[in-house]
Amino acid sequence: MQERLQKLISAAGIASRRAAEELILSGRVAVNDCVVTELGSKADPASDRITVDGTPLVIASQKLYILLNKPVGYMTTLDDPEGRPLVTDLLKEVKERVYPVGRLDYNTEGLLILTNDGEWANRLMHPRHEIEKEYHVRVRGKVHKSQLDQLADGVEIDGRKTAPAAVQMVKSGEQNDWLSIAIHEGRNRQVRRMCEAVSLSVVRLKRVRYGVLSMGALKPGEFRYLNPTEVDSLRDPLQTPATVKKEPLREVRNSKKPPLTERASARERKTVTQRTRPETTSRGDKTLRPPKRPRQ
Ligand code: URA
Repeated sequence: MQERLQKLISAAGIASRRAAEELILSGRVAVNDCVVTELGSKADPASDRITVDGTPLVIASQKLYILLNKPVGYMTTLDDPEGRPLVTDLLKEVKERVYPVGRLDYNTEGLLILTNDGEWANRLMHPRHEIEKEYHVRVRGKVHKSQLDQLADGVEIDGRKTAPAAVQMVKSGEQNDWLSIAIHEGRNRQVRRMCEAVSLSVVRLKRVRYGVLSMGALKPGEFRYLNPTEVDSLRDPLQTPATVKKEPLREVRNSKKPPLTERASARERKTVTQRTRPETTSRGDKTLRPPKRPRQ
């Protein structure tokens, strides 16, 4: 089927639609070896050879949307010059090439989304959509109210103040306190640098929520496929905080087995482990069917 070139380039994850238009206008896109500079031009990815800067476009036949519980000690890049483990090493059963939506540091754990749907990923990452990300942060020692207030109001990073954040104390221990920090921005190492700015030393950092998605009962290294409702709810920029379930404190504990309530809710949601394969939905749109019951 013929589609507009900018849509195809965006779907391949190369650029947003707007940036794809620039690529076309600047003569970097060719169809069957003919450079195309007209914005309305269409091509059929099944029969035409579309290239950007001479590299053929790879368009996934099946869209995949994955939620991974990233363990500490994995890179979210697709290769690493130092040879460290990659998050994609945890997805060996996924034969299609997927890539992370945004990034988590090597030492950060928690909720990471991966997909081969470039257009969807670009939407999610666009600052306009302001998807809220919630982190649980273990910090050394005691946190003072003034530090919570400063984090919530915004602190200066690289000469620019961070946007207001939702900050709460979730647990206070002998040696460490746990905070919940929810932000909309996605600046590099933002949560660690916000904490540094108020003299807090981060011992552990875990992303527990991304928009309406939370981790549920997935253990580190496990993943599941998102269902179409979840995919659509993230696509919708008008999602409201009212639809968001706050992550409970138990998420920050490093228990070996999730509590019973969590295991029950996981069954309700039919969370899967790495054994589950995606299937085409009844809508026929090749998004994913809610998966099978997990192995307990
Ligand atoms: N903020 C950080 O500091 N690190 C991450 O990995 C994510 C958010």
